[in-house]
Amino acid sequence: MLDFTIDVETCIGCGQCASDCPAMIINMESNLPLIPEDVEQFCIGCMHCVAVCSEGSVSILGYGPDAGVPLKDAPLPAPEQLELLIKGRRSVRNYQDKNVDGELINKLIEVASHAPSGHNDRELLYTVVDDKGIVYDLRDEALNGLEKLIESEQLPEGFEMFADILDAWKASGKDILFRGAPHLLIVSASQESAAPLHDCVIALSTFEMYAQSHGVGTIWNGFATLTISELVPSLKTRLGIPDDHQLGYVMGFGLPALSYKRTIERSAPRVNRVK
Ligand SMILES: Cc1cc2nc3c(=O)[nH]c(=O)nc-3n(C[C@H](O)[C@H](O)[C@H](O)COP(=O)(O)O)c2cc1C
Repeated sequence: MLDFTIDVETCIGCGQCASDCPAMIINMESNLPLIPEDVEQFCIGCMHCVAVCSEGSVSILGYGPDAGVPLKDAPLPAPEQLELLIKGRRSVRNYQDKNVDGELINKLIEVASHAPSGHNDRELLYTVVDDKGIVYDLRDEALNGLEKLIESEQLPEGFEMFADILDAWKASGKDILFRGAPHLLIVSASQESAAPLHDCVIALSTFEMYAQSHGVGTIWNGFATLTISELVPSLKTRLGIPDDHQLGYVMGFGLPALSYKRTIERSAPRVNRVK
């Protein structure tokens, strides 16, 4: 039940909601938008009909125009500001031994959950460790699991660098596995969704940029991802990630213990321009 309602007093019958509907299920009848009952099932819940309406006349799925923020005259970041954020973002590998405020963590996840997803499935699970003590316990569990694999000579071929990671931890307490991050965010998705892996990575990318705009550092963590998904799978259960979920990626985050003073230049991108 979509609960598609139109304020007939304000609707001007412009038809923009109908022309922008990706499922093409909105008809204009007697100059008013209507979704026939037999096609309601094809709605993907994208809410473009609400977003595009100039008069604020459309409501669907329990949300009307007042649920959102008007974009006209909104102070969106200027392109130069966004460029600085993109170019100034760095992978952070030095963190304060301190939790990020819980309210801020909730906000970061809520905003990241607005990232686009295939078919607007939004079937992602955001598994967050918001207490550094638990992250440190998980790190011990992961390193113990790795040690068992190494001692029993069961570390699969191609994963030899995990022996170095363990050695570094034992020799000097250097945490290459989690990079000292006090928090972890693991995004996973049901394998049934339209684009599980892509959705996870896009959500994490969105999280990363928004987190860094708040001064929260982030690190994409391939080592932790491999540890959980391939080497010590008991961690997936410990984290409460459902068996039928594909693990998208692991991101560490926390308050940085250092700051970057400038952006850097990269070599020019390889572009394949089609003529
Ligand atoms: C998919 C992915 C996996 C990564 N895995 C790790 C990792 O396991 N450990 C690590 O220290 N950095 C990891 N990184 C960070 C990259 O090394 C880093 O993005 C790159 O060196 C560029 O530096 P910058 O992010 O500061 O621009 C990863 C990055 C990506 C995108």
